[in-house]
Amino acid sequence: MGSMDRQPPQGAAADWTVPQDWASYTHVEHATWDRLFARQSAQLQARAAPSFLAGIDMLKLSKPGIPDFDELNARLGSATGWRVVAVPGLVPDTVFFDHLANRRFVAGRFIRRPDQFDYLEEPDIFHDVFGHVPLLADPIFADYMEAYGKGGLRAMQRGMVEKFARLYWYTVEFGLIRDGDRLKIYGAGIVSSHAETAFALDDPSPNRIAFDTLRTMRTPYRIDDFQQNYFVIESLADLLRRTRDVDFATLYDKLETLPDIAIGDLLEDEQIFTRGTQNYANTRAHSHSIVPGGFDVTS
Ligand SMILES: [Fe+2]
Repeated sequence: MGSMDRQPPQGAAADWTVPQDWASYTHVEHATWDRLFARQSAQLQARAAPSFLAGIDMLKLSKPGIPDFDELNARLGSATGWRVVAVPGLVPDTVFFDHLANRRFVAGRFIRRPDQFDYLEEPDIFHDVFGHVPLLADPIFADYMEAYGKGGLRAMQRGMVEKFARLYWYTVEFGLIRDGDRLKIYGAGIVSSHAETAFALDDPSPNRIAFDTLRTMRTPYRIDDFQQNYFVIESLADLLRRTRDVDFATLYDKLETLPDIAIGDLLEDEQIFTRGTQNYANTRAHSHSIVPGGFDVTS
C-alpha cells in the first residue's frame, strides 16, 4: 500500500496487476523456492495452525518450483473463490482493499536472491504465496480476508487506515492461534520467516496477549524486527466474528479519544498468555546491526 494518488507503473493494468510470466523464472529462482519451501514446511509441521497445513496440502504447494498462478488459482478458486494476482510491488491502499474485497490476493512475482535467503525488505513471492495463500483455502479465513478488504475501504472514508492496518498486521501477518492448550502460528510474516517461527512461539521476550479488535488497533508495531507483541485468537471463526460482525464505526469513535498503548505495555484487564521479558527488544534498541525479519506490507 502507499500513497493514494500513484498511477500504475508502465505495463500494469488499471488495477495494478501484471502477468506472472511463469515461464520466465530461472532454475536458480525455482531452486530458491524449493529450499525455502523445504525448510519452512519442515519447521512448521508442529508449529503452524492445522488450517494452514491443510491449505499447503490442498493447494499442492509441495510441487517443486515456484507455483504457477493459473494452476494455483484453479485449486484455490474451487475451494473458496479466491484468486492470486501478480502486482509489481506495493500498491495503493484503495487498490489493495478493493482486490481483497473481491477475493483477489495481490502477490509479488519476484523471488529473493540467494544472498537474501533469510531477510529481505519487500515481500516476495515466497512470503506472499507460501505465507498468505494456504489460509485463503480455508472458507472461514477466506471470509475474514474479504471482510478485511471491505472494512479497509470504509476505514479510508473514516481516516482510520493507519489504525485499521494494525489489525492486519497483528492477525494476517503476525497472528497466533490457540490449538488445544498450545499456541500455533497462522500469520504470514511468521510462517515465511525461519527465525521468527522460532521466536514467536518459544522466546520469552515478546508478550502473547488474547486478541481484542480494539486493543490491536491501539497498538503500534515494529516493521524492522521481531514483534514485541503477538495476539492470540481462539479460532478463525472467533476472529471472523470479532471483525466482520462488529460495528467498526463504534470502535473508531472510541479510537478518537483512546490513546495508543505503548508497544511493550500490558493492560490490567486483558488475558495474557505470556508476560514478555522484552529482553530482545531492549537489547536491540542499543544496536544498529542487521535485522532478521519482517517487512512493512501495510504502509
Ligand atoms: Fe504479507
